[in-house]
Amino acid sequence: MKPLNGRCEQTLPQKSHPFAKGAGEARLRARASPPPVTMKSAAVLLAGLLALTAYYVYLPLPSTVSEPWRLMLLDASFRVAQQSCNLVHFLGLGHHLRALNFLIGAFDQLNPQSSEGVKITDTQFDGVEVRVYEPLAKGGAKLRRSVVYIHGGGWALASARGGYYNNLCSIMAESLDAVVVSIEYRLVPDFHFPVQFNDVLQATKHFMLPEVLARYSVDPSRVAISGDSAGGNLAAAVCQEMTQEENVTTRFKLQALIYPVLQPFDFNTPSYQQNEVTPVLPRFVMVKFWLDYFNGNYDFAHSMVVNNHTALDMSEANAFREHLDWTFLLPSRFRKNYKPVAHATGKAEIIRDIPALLDVRAAPLLAEKEVFRIQPKTYILTCEIDVLRDDALMYAKRLEKAGVAVTIDHFEDCFHGCMIFTVWPTNFSAGFQTRDSYIKWLSQNL
Ligand SMILES: *[C@@H]1O[C@H](CO)[C@@H](O)[C@H](O)[C@H]1NC(C)=O
Ligand SMILES: *[C@@H]1O[C@H](CO)[C@@H](O)[C@H](O)[C@H]1NC(C)=O
Ligand SMILES: *[C@@H]1O[C@H](CO)[C@@H](O)[C@H](O)[C@H]1NC(C)=O
Repeated sequence: MKPLNGRCEQTLPQKSHPFAKGAGEARLRARASPPPVTMKSAAVLLAGLLALTAYYVYLPLPSTVSEPWRLMLLDASFRVAQQSCNLVHFLGLGHHLRALNFLIGAFDQLNPQSSEGVKITDTQFDGVEVRVYEPLAKGGAKLRRSVVYIHGGGWALASARGGYYNNLCSIMAESLDAVVVSIEYRLVPDFHFPVQFNDVLQATKHFMLPEVLARYSVDPSRVAISGDSAGGNLAAAVCQEMTQEENVTTRFKLQALIYPVLQPFDFNTPSYQQNEVTPVLPRFVMVKFWLDYFNGNYDFAHSMVVNNHTALDMSEANAFREHLDWTFLLPSRFRKNYKPVAHATGKAEIIRDIPALLDVRAAPLLAEKEVFRIQPKTYILTCEIDVLRDDALMYAKRLEKAGVAVTIDHFEDCFHGCMIFTVWPTNFSAGFQTRDSYIKWLSQNL
C-alpha cells in the first residue's frame, strides 16, 4: 500500500495545483490535443499500478488448491481491510479489531439471510445472548436432536447474527431437523480470556438443563457441541469442562470441531511452517489473535513465532511438552521433513506475563490424558492450507490414544475458514465441499 499512496501524493499536486508554474498553459494544451508525453506517462503509471496490484494479490499457493485466483483475491481484500484497520489503530482512531469487525459486519449485511423453514429467536441463556434455530417442519411429538454452535473469528470477529453464520445455522437446523443454538459470546477487544470461554460455558450449561431442553423439545441424549476456528477452540474447551463437572446431568453425544485452534505453545508445527504465509490466516496474524485474546503485549509476537516463549529452559512449559510432541503424534505424511523449533534458552517474561498461554481452557490440547478419556465421539475437519491443521490432527491422535472414536475429515485442496464461504461473491467450492461433508457426518451420527 505504501508505495501506491506515496506515488499519488507526489503526482497529483504537480498536475493540478493552480499556482504551479505553467499549469494553465498545460491545461490549454491538453484541451487542444493530449500530448503524447502525458499518454505515455499515464500508460507507465497504469502498468506500474497493475504490476503493484498483481504483486500485492499474487501469492504462491500449493498446486492442490482449488480456485487459486479467487482465493488470492479474497486474501488480498482481507489484507487491505486488515492494513486499513491497522492504520486506524496506529492513528489512535480505534482498536484495529473493532474496526475490522465493523467492516466485516458491513460486508456480512450483504449476505442474504436465508432462513426459510426455520424459526429464529434471539434470547438469553443465563444472561448470555444466543440465537436459537428451530425447524418449522412438524416433528409431531418427536423430540429433536440439537447442536450448540460457536462461531469463529479469532475470538474477536463475526457474529452469530451475521449473514455467514446465520446461513450456516439455518441450513444445519433445516437439513438435520435439529434445534441449533448459536452463542453470541462477547468479543475481543472489549473482553478477553476467559470471558469468551465463560460465556459459552454458561449458555451451554443453561441449555443442557433438563427443563430447558424439554422446552425446546430436544432429546437430551442427542446433543452435539460444535464450532469452527476460534469457535472450535471454545467448543473443545467447554466440552472438556462439561465432561468434568459433576453437577452436569446431560452429556454431549458428540463434538464436531472445524479447523479448531487448540494451542499457543508451538507455532512451528509442520502446518505452521508450511503455511506460514498462505491465505487466509498467516502465522503472524494467528499469533496476534492469541495475544489479543489474552490482552498480551504485541512486542512478544516475534519471540513467540520462534517458540521462545516455550524454550527448553521454561520449566512451566516442560510439563506440557509431550502433549503436543508432533514428531510422535503426527503421521509422517504430515510431518514431511519439518524440524521442531525449540531453543535452549527463551524469554521467561512471556509466560510470566501471560500464564493463560498454558491454561487448558485456552489450550485444550494441553489437557491431561484423563480428560481426553472422557470426551464424547468426535468429528474433526482439517484443511491442508491451514496453519492450524496440526493442532487438530494432534488433538485427534490424543483422543484416539485415549480410546475415543474419532473421524478425521481432511481436505487436501481447502483453506482455513472456507466452510462459511458459500454465498456469492465468496462462494467457494471448498465451502460447499466442507459444509456438506460436515452436515452429512452429523446427520449420520447425531
Ligand atoms: C454441585 O452442586 C452442589 C449443590 O448445589 C454445590 O454445592 C457444588 O458446589 C456444585 N459443584 C460444582 C462443581 O459446581
Ligand atoms: C530466541 O532465542 C534464541 C536463543 O536464545 C535467540 O538467539 C533469539 O534471538 C531469540 N529470538 C527472538 C525473536 O526472541
Ligand atoms: C458462485 O456464484 C456465481 C454467481 O452466482 C456462479 O456463477 C459461480 O459458478 C459460483 N461458484 C461456485 C464455486 O459455486
